[in-house]
Amino acid sequence: MKIIGTGSALPSLAVTNEMLSVFLDTSDEWIHTRTGIFERRIISDENLKDLAVEAAQKALDEAGISGSELDYIICSNVVNYYVTPSLSCLIAGGIQAVCPCVDLNAACSGFLYGLDMAQAYIMTGKAKNILVICAEEPTRMCSWKDRNTCVLFGDGAAAAVVTQGEGFKASWITAAHRPEILYYQRPLEDCPFVKYQQRGVPMYMNGKEVFKVAVTASIQGIEHILNQTGLTADQVDYYILHQANMRIIDTVRNQLHLPAEKFPHNIERLGNTSSATIPILLDELNKSGKLKYGDTVVLSGFGAGFTAGTCLFTWTMNQ
Ligand code: UT7
Repeated sequence: MKIIGTGSALPSLAVTNEMLSVFLDTSDEWIHTRTGIFERRIISDENLKDLAVEAAQKALDEAGISGSELDYIICSNVVNYYVTPSLSCLIAGGIQAVCPCVDLNAACSGFLYGLDMAQAYIMTGKAKNILVICAEEPTRMCSWKDRNTCVLFGDGAAAAVVTQGEGFKASWITAAHRPEILYYQRPLEDCPFVKYQQRGVPMYMNGKEVFKVAVTASIQGIEHILNQTGLTADQVDYYILHQANMRIIDTVRNQLHLPAEKFPHNIERLGNTSSATIPILLDELNKSGKLKYGDTVVLSGFGAGFTAGTCLFTWTMNQ
């Protein structure tokens, strides 16, 4: 499998740390020193489906194929206005695709899970062209009175078109039962037969615990993938990690004894856009020409569940 197109779309509203400190007991100083975030994009007058369609169309345009040539759409999404139909079906309508569509929820690891699924379909010959898209609005899961969570997140969408070819070398996904450290419970409709009505709980996160689990999972994933491919850590050109906290990225980098240039980031501008962080950053590196043909790239993410995923590929675009 190889990537032949990427695309991303962001909300127009940039919300700075100062804007949050107007209504929250927080400060620019606290947020950027603890997380690396200065601002994030938040959906105001757009909607997530339209951003996703825009990201998908850009990826298709770069790939040089139309939506009707897709064999599958895999959409990573945690929350959006529709519970059903799936967001992938809604996106399909916007890009004139007629293929099967499925949503997956692996929280912030969704891009890694999506690529892993796509690779399985492509390797068995069941599909040729697949759109893996991540579209997320985590800002709609947080309480905007809870400074522990809402300052961390932003919204966005990004996609990759993958097809048959040589590029992907290895992929490893995992999951562990740790719902208590990070969860969001949506309200359900009242039902006359249910004993306890479920009103929903805004996102809860035990930040310190998630931090520890995230560092361990990222390092395990990277070491696993390096062992699998027989490469050393310094032979990788770029490590594109989930953008949840700059301190997590720096801790992983320091434990691997690698220079900062190998760990590109955009968390300072976009915050944590859940599963969209990795494909947004991948698209930025692609479009800016930083990714060169033949570069070795590792993607690694983690999220609620607790899920994690890492993959390694050779960049086959920009020849
Ligand atoms: O993709 C989702 C995965 N999520 C993550 O990866 C998050 C991982 N965890 C983290 O990034 C960090 O744990 C946080 C950024 C969430 C928190 O940083 P921390 O250094 O672990 O801070 P803390 O939770 O220990 O809080 C320290 C203090 C507390 O005050 P007290 O109890 O010491 O008086 C908090 O109440 O900072 C306070 N605090 C804040 N202060 C100002 C928490 N949030 C804020 C805030 N502004 N926004």
